[in-house]
Amino acid sequence: MSVSKSVFGSMPDGREVFCYTIENSNEMKVSIITLGATLQSIVVADKEGAFEDVLLGFDDVQGYLERSSYQGAVVGPYANRIGNASFCIDSVKYDLIKNEKDVTCLHSGGEFSYALWNSIIIDSDAVEFSYTSEDGTNGFPGKLTTTVTYKLGENNDLHIVYKCVSDKKTFINLTNHAYFNLAGYQNGCITDHILQLNCSAYTPVDAYSITTGEIAEVKNTPFDFTVAKCIGDEIDADFEQLKLTGGYDHNFVIDEADGTLRKCATVLDPKSSRQLHVYTDLPGVQFYAGNFLEGESGKNNFPMQKRSGFCLETQYYPDTPNKCGFPQCLFDAGEEFSSETVFIFDTAE
Ligand code: BGC
Repeated sequence: MSVSKSVFGSMPDGREVFCYTIENSNEMKVSIITLGATLQSIVVADKEGAFEDVLLGFDDVQGYLERSSYQGAVVGPYANRIGNASFCIDSVKYDLIKNEKDVTCLHSGGEFSYALWNSIIIDSDAVEFSYTSEDGTNGFPGKLTTTVTYKLGENNDLHIVYKCVSDKKTFINLTNHAYFNLAGYQNGCITDHILQLNCSAYTPVDAYSITTGEIAEVKNTPFDFTVAKCIGDEIDADFEQLKLTGGYDHNFVIDEADGTLRKCATVLDPKSSRQLHVYTDLPGVQFYAGNFLEGESGKNNFPMQKRSGFCLETQYYPDTPNKCGFPQCLFDAGEEFSSETVFIFDTAE
């Protein structure tokens, strides 16, 4: 195992952005940059031993600052959407940044995703990133101290460990927004990837993509991935929930989630046989099929076309602060949010 550090570029104000690359003895390489504690590349072999970078993203800081739809970034303090960009804690109303359609708060307004994080190599296989956000940033209560550790194992297992403490009672829900294409970022559409989700239910949304509070069974709907099927099989079906979001962009409810690590998803690219297994200790996973990508120029100038990457963002359900029926993520001052996501890569037989 080894970790190397290089300069990736610089922020508009001149601060340097660093890149860490962790490599295991299978020559799998994972790079993370200090801007947004962002996963910048994952280079992993297929069953013939051919290496590809399976992550959408950019070669430079400018790309991440100007064209990124959160590619690979850590999202926080609250991932996904909050309805009407507000919530209440102990009868105090907090108004958040309305960064979507002037109505909703998406990904906390990018607070964690576009910040420059501190970083330190903590072992030959792990790097820790840390960031402190001030009380009231984008309307969120509390000064938050966050660390995100990326650790690569010898089984091509990438562990992301999130820890966050606030000095005021607040909602915390951290995720990573990696867009994967298991055939390689330059390989176009992911609708031929085969997905299996250990999720018998999902959370439907309204016209603003805000969860309605309902928990709906996937059975007999295009949302049923309990048995593996191609992402593209029903993505354009005449089904209201898909029409509202232009394809899959929903939180799935992980079966038997109990706070311990469990597998929520397996994705296979039939061309390369590369496979991704996703584990989390959180109750939900946002399956987003990259419906809103529209040709942004990415790595090596390859365009990120509609559905050229998919995301599996482990999370508490979107808009939990306003949905009392959802598993809650309200943390007292000083109480730690702690969560782990594991991405394991292998190849199918
Ligand atoms: C959301 C999408 C959004 C994307 C990029 C996902 O988590 O569910 O609706 O377009 O992030 O911001």
